[in-house]
Amino acid sequence: MRLGVFGGSFDPPHLGHLVVAEEARQALGLDRVLFVPAPRPPHKAGAVLTPALERLAMVRAAVAGRPGFEACGLEVDRPGPSYTVDTLDALRTLHPGAELFCLVGSDTAVQLDTWHEPERLFSAAAFVALLRPGWPAARIETWLRAQPAGRRPRLEVVEVPGLDISSSDLRQRVAEGRSIRYLVPDPVRDLIAQRGLYGAGGGRADAPCAGTAPTAAELQAAVRGQLSAARAAHSERVAETAAALAARHGLDAGQARVAGLLHDYFREVPAADIVAMARSCGAVPADTPDDALVPAVLHGPVAARVLPPRWPGVPGNVWRAIDRHTTGDPAMTPFDCCLFVGDLVEPAHRWLGVEELRRLAEADLWAATLEAMNRGLRHLLEGGRPIDARTVVARNAVLGRAGARRPPAVAVDPRVGPA
Ligand SMILES: [Fe+2]
Ligand SMILES: [Fe+2]
Repeated sequence: MRLGVFGGSFDPPHLGHLVVAEEARQALGLDRVLFVPAPRPPHKAGAVLTPALERLAMVRAAVAGRPGFEACGLEVDRPGPSYTVDTLDALRTLHPGAELFCLVGSDTAVQLDTWHEPERLFSAAAFVALLRPGWPAARIETWLRAQPAGRRPRLEVVEVPGLDISSSDLRQRVAEGRSIRYLVPDPVRDLIAQRGLYGAGGGRADAPCAGTAPTAAELQAAVRGQLSAARAAHSERVAETAAALAARHGLDAGQARVAGLLHDYFREVPAADIVAMARSCGAVPADTPDDALVPAVLHGPVAARVLPPRWPGVPGNVWRAIDRHTTGDPAMTPFDCCLFVGDLVEPAHRWLGVEELRRLAEADLWAATLEAMNRGLRHLLEGGRPIDARTVVARNAVLGRAGARRPPAVAVDPRVGPA
């Protein structure tokens, strides 16, 4: 059997992926092409990816019913970094006697010598460079000749059509509410809408999702098992406050309650451990030095990446709100604001000015979010504490959202800060 192995982040998979895989399948007479989403592609270590299980679900949707194509969750199921050489080993065990062909873009083909354990890698499979129109094919020949004898991959070149679709452009389109019809397979488009991926649905949070939604009691028990009594009680109060704000502004109160319950799930993880978790789940760019990280903000992004497989019934917009609750985000939605502000004004907080902020949140979510951010920044500055760069970027974006309105005068007690 001749088996194609097509790895990538597939965030999201699109018609460009299907077209090049089909071209390779035909050109090389492959019996099957396996689409293998990587949990953390080593060459994209800094990128923040959609949770691997969501990407695997999208890949499954993209290839379902298409002869010769198959989704493969091998890397998603494996702990640790995802190296192609390990995947190829696993595939040889699963498909004894199969001939493996690893499909890569031409840019990638001329960097194969930098991959993990190149000698073992090159003996495990042949490589297929997918050559787009206009890409200088001679570069591949030159690179191949420069490789030392005994460390040259078996490399074939397949010319593929130049479909100019990029996953990052698709994510941008979804976030802006623009159409991705005819750019991705329809089932992928449906899944993105259902799960609220990439900001789909503008945070209205009314989309159904796959998996069974956990009950509030189930989540409450998990939170009480994870956190100190005081922090768990805070989470429960934030859940009710965020739910009330969501209901007030026509958003999904049940989902806001879930976001509130889970938002501080990793809040009590020690600083060194949360930094390690953030690095391993891709919550921070890999090239960020330790001294540029603010551990106190990482529990949100870590929870949003680590917890979804545990509760697959919780929709994407809940995780997104949790992701954004510590720093805010330039693409924040009103749903995100309910958690962000609810965290600050839950009933146990009694700092000077909290009543005004509560009233403001009832009247105008954006103005309240701006005030909450301004307050948080003042608190950090006055305490001489570090500020995560995202906090500043998010605040400037919310300043624009809150429009030309003057920020309301809210009395601030600098001695008391947000939780
Ligand atoms: Fe928090
Ligand atoms: Fe909190």
